[in-house]
Amino acid sequence: MNILGLQGSPRKKGNTHELMSLFMEKAASHGADTRVITPHSMNIQPCKELILCEKKGICPIKDDMDTQVYSLLKNADLIVLASPVFFYNVPAQLKALIDRCQMFWGRKYKLNLMDPNRHVRQGFMLACGASGGKKLFEGLELTAKIFFDALSIPYKGSLTYRYVENPGDIKAHPTARQDITQAVDTLCSEYFLKPGILFISAKDACRSQMAKAFLNTHAEGRFRALSAGIHPAATICEDTSAIMAEKDLDLKYTHPEPLDRIDMERFERVILVGDDVNIGGDVLSGRTEIWKIPEPKDRSPATLAKLRHEIEGRVLQLIDII
Ligand SMILES: Cc1cc2nc3c(=O)[nH]c(=O)nc-3n(C[C@H](O)[C@H](O)[C@H](O)COP(=O)(O)O)c2cc1C
Repeated sequence: MNILGLQGSPRKKGNTHELMSLFMEKAASHGADTRVITPHSMNIQPCKELILCEKKGICPIKDDMDTQVYSLLKNADLIVLASPVFFYNVPAQLKALIDRCQMFWGRKYKLNLMDPNRHVRQGFMLACGASGGKKLFEGLELTAKIFFDALSIPYKGSLTYRYVENPGDIKAHPTARQDITQAVDTLCSEYFLKPGILFISAKDACRSQMAKAFLNTHAEGRFRALSAGIHPAATICEDTSAIMAEKDLDLKYTHPEPLDRIDMERFERVILVGDDVNIGGDVLSGRTEIWKIPEPKDRSPATLAKLRHEIEGRVLQLIDII
């Protein structure tokens, strides 16, 4: 389970940092892979409203969004947005990151592309503010809802803390640690209780990615499908992304996952896709099957469409029997 934290406070050891650390420590104890990014320490330019996201589904600004953040957002199973209240919303650098996700909004609502993993992913928010006003978190809640919707991620809720002002205040909070423990337990169990299906290929750049996308789409969240490569490519093949977009499935910014980061014991079924995949050992006896789908001879749209059709058919058969 990949968990991405967006830590919105400019204070390195402030209350938001503490909330996020508590969350991620607990998540790591469930076996999740955690990563936290801090927009304040990154090169993230504000949205310039160039509108290419709505016309072509791309953002032409070249910065850390393009090289890291879009891909991290796309590949996270759970995203945790953590923020202090700044004038009833999130701080400016975090807001810049959120605004730049108009790229995902454009792909979803203007180009009608769907995130294949939308039934499996989750979004959550942690927030704190100094005062005690009833409406203190309303701005953040709305921003979080719209942000997660643009990413096609179901928003699972939030934990919010009033009267938290100086660094260290949250540590003295009577329930914060316990609340976070409970929230992480619920979110992680919801994810891990789904039967896991792992597709393995040599590079995780084409066939296994198609299989994962179709399973997560057609099974509508009954399973958690993942894919991984023995020697993962740096990016998934662009023509794979294009051929899946014809089926309205958005694979742009999806990246191949290295097999050595995956705990195979947590999967009920492991499917080797291709005739060139050897993972050795007998650890997976009884749970492994091989889909002998050879690498396509050429990468013309017609050949890739045929491959896509074959993989979708096999996935539909699999859903019928499990
Ligand atoms: C620029 C700025 C704006 C703020 N606006 C609000 C506000 O509108 N309401 C509020 O209750 N607290 C506000 N605060 C206080 C912070 O939300 C509070 O101190 C929080 O604990 C800071 O979290 P941190 O330690 O993670 O940075 C503001 C603080 C700053 C620096």
